[in-house]
Amino acid sequence: MIRVRTAKDEGSYEVQFVSIKDMIALITQGDVVITDTNLASIYANELDGIAQLVVFQAGEVSKSFPVFESIVDRVVAKGLKRNGRIIGFGGGVVGDMAGFVAATVHRGVDFVQMPTTLLAMVDSSVGGKVGIDLRHGKNLLGAFKNPQSVMLSLETLKTLPEVQFVNGMAEVIKYGWIWDVELLDRLGRSLLTVNSGDLESVIRRCIEIKRDVVEGDFEEKSGLRAILNFGHTVGHALETLEGYDGLLHGEAISIGMVAETAIAKGSGLSDLEPGDVAEVLKMYGLPIRPKGDFDLDRLVDLMMADKKNIGVGLSMSLVKVPGECKLEHGIDPHQVKSILADLWN
Ligand code: NAD
Ligand code: GLY
Repeated sequence: MIRVRTAKDEGSYEVQFVSIKDMIALITQGDVVITDTNLASIYANELDGIAQLVVFQAGEVSKSFPVFESIVDRVVAKGLKRNGRIIGFGGGVVGDMAGFVAATVHRGVDFVQMPTTLLAMVDSSVGGKVGIDLRHGKNLLGAFKNPQSVMLSLETLKTLPEVQFVNGMAEVIKYGWIWDVELLDRLGRSLLTVNSGDLESVIRRCIEIKRDVVEGDFEEKSGLRAILNFGHTVGHALETLEGYDGLLHGEAISIGMVAETAIAKGSGLSDLEPGDVAEVLKMYGLPIRPKGDFDLDRLVDLMMADKKNIGVGLSMSLVKVPGECKLEHGIDPHQVKSILADLWN
């Protein structure tokens, strides 16, 4: 069990590793369970008998305002009361969506995260950021809503497609670059897979890092929490450019981590080589540059809509040396465009 203190209300919640059977057994009669179409089908037996199940189409394109509205309609129609509870059973898309519904319906009801992807276990289920995408940019409509608890079962990773495991590895590798060189060394030494004996300890380590960061800066005010966004300024812009229907989130931030390392180096903010960051990502089969043609002007415009930006220019979380990352402000978008044009030409 890992305990996370919530700066917002001085309370705390637990992240618990349980069996799938015990996880499902925690769902009670009044709970509304939100999940996606893939999980509803794969876990049909386990979810059978849950009266209040709300299912939406799997995929990032569903993290949208129209789908949010339809889920809220269904949740209210199922009779959720102010003292009721919403459970998000799924990956990061489900967790972000279910959490945003829980943060807003009846001005907020209790919420439990049951993450079922590697990405959601190590990152999105912890820290209380919930929300949806707008056409202007990723995660631009949201809230801070801490869960009452995070319940996860490593058994669910057995049904996760390999491409989705690799997708989650991008966030795992990110923790190495921003915080923990030992973790980075471990990931580079031999491939971490769903069958690795140390998978649980790596997942636990990532959750501990996320806990330490969010406990230090819950509402992302001091700049500490923003380091979790290494690779995300470019990554989020790429996802938005593709209409949330091209790259997976982890793939986008994998490309973003290499690109932002080039930006840091090109701006004189770090000596780290983009090739060093690319090496471990490539080892896991993650992309390190975008495929095909795209509009670089539009990409940089989308980066200018990033939530981290304050004042003039771009704000980006850049790795200085392995294990250390810092939010930098005032980065010149014209220079960024020329660095990216060189990197990707
Ligand atoms: P996802 O929820 O779309 O899951 C990926 C795919 O795996 C989906 O098709 C899903 O149906 C399927 N799936 C999930 N669990 C499965 C299982 N056990 N077996 C078989 N299939 C399964 O996406 P994700 O990669 O988990 O999360 C990405 C999202 O998380 C993005 O929207 C990103 O912005 C968000 N995110 C949020 C935070 C945060 O702090 N809130 C942090 C990181 C990422
Ligand atoms: N994934 C970024 C954050 O939780 O702040």
